[in-house]
Amino acid sequence: MTAGIDDISIYIPRLYVDANDFAEARGLDPAKLQKGLGVSKMAIVDTNQDPACLAANACLSVMQNNKLSPEDIGRLYVSTESSFDESKAMNSYVIGMLEQVYGQGAFEHCGGVETKFACVSGSYALYDNLNWIRAGEAEGKAALVVVSDIAKYDLGSSGEMTQGAGAVTMLLNDHPRLLTFDPRVTATSIRDEYDFYRPFGKETPIVHGQYSNLLYMIQVRKALEIYKDKAVSTGLIKLEPGETILDHMDYINMHLPYSAMGKKALAYLVRHEWRQLPRWKKIIQEIGMEEPVPKDPRGTIESVLRDHEFMTKDHEFTKLFTQTPEYQEVYEAKLSSSLIASKMIGNLYTASLYLGFRSSLEFEYQKGIDLEGKRVGFGAYGSGSSAMVFSGVIQPEYKEVVKSMNLEEELGSRRKLTLNEYETIHENKLGLEESILKTKHEFILVNVNTSIESRGERRYVFTK
Ligand code: HMG
Repeated sequence: MTAGIDDISIYIPRLYVDANDFAEARGLDPAKLQKGLGVSKMAIVDTNQDPACLAANACLSVMQNNKLSPEDIGRLYVSTESSFDESKAMNSYVIGMLEQVYGQGAFEHCGGVETKFACVSGSYALYDNLNWIRAGEAEGKAALVVVSDIAKYDLGSSGEMTQGAGAVTMLLNDHPRLLTFDPRVTATSIRDEYDFYRPFGKETPIVHGQYSNLLYMIQVRKALEIYKDKAVSTGLIKLEPGETILDHMDYINMHLPYSAMGKKALAYLVRHEWRQLPRWKKIIQEIGMEEPVPKDPRGTIESVLRDHEFMTKDHEFTKLFTQTPEYQEVYEAKLSSSLIASKMIGNLYTASLYLGFRSSLEFEYQKGIDLEGKRVGFGAYGSGSSAMVFSGVIQPEYKEVVKSMNLEEELGSRRKLTLNEYETIHENKLGLEESILKTKHEFILVNVNTSIESRGERRYVFTK
């Protein structure tokens, strides 16, 4: 049985910090954000928004756009790393909010959990729900997989320039108009790591930035190797001599903690794939330097990062490699459109990969390219750490959905925050009722109980 994404909706908070204002306030060169990291705006939540209401808003929009009723939905999963309760799952809050619109008990039949594994948990939730459909358990119903997060880092930290917030909802069924996932090729890689984590009670993560960049690439590459073996052994892809698995992906969507990470990660994967092929000789000639190797090629990530001579040379080599026409062609054709939304919004943790997928669909369609039958590869990464690589094929009915995608319109009129306003919100100095924006037809948080017997209970309303 086939299974895939029928529609995808997004909810992005309308407040943002501009990268140039941010750079000026922190004494940074704006080019570091705009060019180095590929960040031009970072979406910020208002005082009355939390990840549950972002998720509910994205769910409501997919339900309304497709005229779905609660009976059409059999499962609702929420994946997040911005959880605010150690026990009560975020999907229960979302169901509570949706029932304000659809009636109390309307989603009673709808199973689901909140899943956690940093940014990759949404991809595990997607995989599990696809298998629920493939197994014939769905009985004609659809699943909603919601990925929702607020990427918030300490003021003044190096992660602060890679913030963002938002939610994406994917409507999954057995007759998807957008994309059918390739069966039996999903590949995972996992190991116990501390590149980025958020201990209990801490609002912001502890981050080892450069370590996390390198680990992301190593883990995704390992998952790609496993994907390659599965794709070949299941007969999904036949590799001819001189070909790489990436040649068989028309589009590649990567997890995007900031948009330039997608470019960096793609370059890393392409380098490793091409190195074994006849085409590499020509690339090395064009670059004019041999590919550097670390002093201890079998060393740890720490030893590689400490090998400054190697890191400098490797950085130079990567820069030159990404300027070759061969890499540029791959980048432009397979990745570049997926980065557009990320530049405008920032990191959405679990939702970043899927915002990128949506961005790729919209902006490739706008180029007039026929997307039917194109294979899309996905490279998911979550700190702590695990990677997933999987793929799917764009379906003949995709136009029905993609033709009405309009990111600018969906972002609406956004309100730029001054740095002072941003810092006040960041430090939680404003109450829920002191929101910057007044909202219409959206879920907002109106109360968090502080009494001893009901501490932490949250109340939401759907604004008229
Ligand atoms: P940093 O170390 O201060 O920045 O912070 P940098 O020195 O690496 O510079 C960034 C880029 O800007 C570099 O580009 C510089 O050359 C360039 P590259 O060389 O890599 O191509 N640059 C400039 N370009 C133009 N003009 C200039 C200029 N100056 C520098 N003047 C870092 C960067 C990402 C480490 C930091 O922001 C951070 O810690 N972020 C949070 C962690 C993160 O995003 N890690 C990504 C991988 S892990 C992941 O994706 C998982 C995650 O989403 C969490 C989860 O799974 O839940 C984070």
